[in-house]
Amino acid sequence: MSTHTAPAATSEASGARIQQHRSYLMCKPEYFTVSYTINPWMVPANPTDTAKAVRQWQALYDTYLSLGHDVHLIDPIAGLPDMVYTANGGFLIDGVAYGAKFRFPERQPEGPAFMEWFGAHGFEVVEPQQTNEGEGDFLLVGDTILAGTGFRSTGDSHRELHDVFGKEVVSLTLVDPRFYHLDTAVSVLDPVEGPGGVERANIAYLPHAFDERSQGILAERYPDAIAVSDADGAVFGLNSSSDGLNVLISPRATGFDAQLRERGYNPVHIDLSELLLGGGGIKCCTLELRKAAR
Ligand code: ARG
Repeated sequence: MSTHTAPAATSEASGARIQQHRSYLMCKPEYFTVSYTINPWMVPANPTDTAKAVRQWQALYDTYLSLGHDVHLIDPIAGLPDMVYTANGGFLIDGVAYGAKFRFPERQPEGPAFMEWFGAHGFEVVEPQQTNEGEGDFLLVGDTILAGTGFRSTGDSHRELHDVFGKEVVSLTLVDPRFYHLDTAVSVLDPVEGPGGVERANIAYLPHAFDERSQGILAERYPDAIAVSDADGAVFGLNSSSDGLNVLISPRATGFDAQLRERGYNPVHIDLSELLLGGGGIKCCTLELRKAAR
């Protein structure tokens, strides 16, 4: 499928959505299991099915390819079952990769493994001093970085993020332990850039996942945002991935599906029920590689 961009004014007026080409990093869940608990979804006593996790993950991978996107792969490492959630591996803009420093010891060896991959694939790697879980908590919306805190990434990491990229960083506080990463409560819907620079940037979010101050900031900044229902949030509906037109979402997020259609997006259903046992979904399994990667 070819990708294209068109002038923003035209597309906005007609309500048409524009697909943008994306480059992603994924990790096959060959060693996926739930052997520890670092979020409320993870119950080691519940059985997991690694083969099923791989099949479901494969459907996500194949969908990205069929939509014309590039998908790079990092080798899974035995003993790091959460490595499939590549969104946590770092945060990358314009060829610069700000590495992750995981909160819990169980995931800490992932940080250097991802940084090594970034360095080997043409990125300038910035080693983090502060605890942060990459694109799980940092989302680029237009030219602004929304940054989550409360459970994983620290406020100090938000300052470090600003120093690294020189962009506006807006700190948001998560309050519901089920939505412990920002990407479980906010979904970035629109293209970041077009021919005229940053054209528009809209989001969908789950208001109840945030404290009052953060809800106020989101309401003010994104008056056109899609407010997702608690029911859709609870099935990880917001843990989705958009290329500006196609929005890959959980099939259980039926209300969100309708909200997206009303606005001219094309929801594509991907069921990652097995990976939800680890507390992750579509977005968690997807890290955006902004520039570089060879
Ligand atoms: N088990 C993983 C953890 O708790 C899941 C990570 C989900 N990733 C995400 N980007 N929300 O760290």
